[in-house]
Amino acid sequence: MTIDEALWRAVPLLKTSCENPLFEAELLLAHHLGRERLYLHAHSDETIEDIDGFRTLIKRREAHEPYEYIVGKCSFYDIELEVEAGVLIPRPETELLINEASVIIDQQKITHLVEIGVGSGAISIVLARKFPQLEITATDISEAALRIARKNSIAHGVAKRITFVKSNLMDEVKADAQMVVSNPPYIANDFRLEKNVFEYEPHCALFGGEAGHELLAQILHDTNQRGVGWLVCEMGCDQFEPIQKLFSDIGVKYQKFYQDLAGLDRGFVVGFNQ
Ligand SMILES: C[S@@+](CC[C@H](N)C(=O)[O-])C[C@H]1O[C@@H](n2cnc3c(N)ncnc32)[C@H](O)[C@@H]1O
Repeated sequence: MTIDEALWRAVPLLKTSCENPLFEAELLLAHHLGRERLYLHAHSDETIEDIDGFRTLIKRREAHEPYEYIVGKCSFYDIELEVEAGVLIPRPETELLINEASVIIDQQKITHLVEIGVGSGAISIVLARKFPQLEITATDISEAALRIARKNSIAHGVAKRITFVKSNLMDEVKADAQMVVSNPPYIANDFRLEKNVFEYEPHCALFGGEAGHELLAQILHDTNQRGVGWLVCEMGCDQFEPIQKLFSDIGVKYQKFYQDLAGLDRGFVVGFNQ
């Protein structure tokens, strides 16, 4: 079967699971052949030797498995990261958290920070690359996440400055932190997620409790108790009110909610002692 024929057979199969079936079929075929996508257009009459291998990839995507798990990698900020089932695929909105955290790290000359819930390592690795003076302690409860994050940190040459700790939140972190960053699970337990997320991504990375913001509340409480100076977190777009109440209860000195390009609340920056 030629490249062209294989693509046109794959497209109808991907219509339910993909917004852009032709584009994803091309990406999967390019991945299968170990070529760039453009190669397909210049060689559309070429015969595909392992057509069954390509069919298997299409079947997985047809069953709503995320593209990133099928190819084992994803793009985030300015880097590529390895991902696998059991480790959350980093989302574009988390790049906003990097920008907010970078402002504080720069202004406050932060040299040690803690990330709670490191996942694939996306946040810690990008921050370590941006700030060569930064030492990071990164926690997670998931062995799979810690293993992949460590692997990604080696691939990006920052492993020496990130210490990975298996820990509930910051419980096992002994060192003092000037700043904490976190994109914790914050989705309410009964929220209906899309099939590709609910059936394939780790629930421990998604669901934050009955209301959703329980872990955010615990992180705010813990960082305040430990005398951490700054906290930057991602949050759900419907969590402004409960989080604002938590700020008032604690009496934070500085607070800022940041929004995404659609104007939805996406996270916050808190200064405890300023
Ligand atoms: C939304 S994911 C974020 C992953 C990564 N930081 C990112 O932004 O792509 C949340 C992560 O927190 C971890 N996690 C969940 N509960 C935790 C807890 N109590 N303590 C530490 N990590 C936790 C999950 O395993 C998951 O890797």
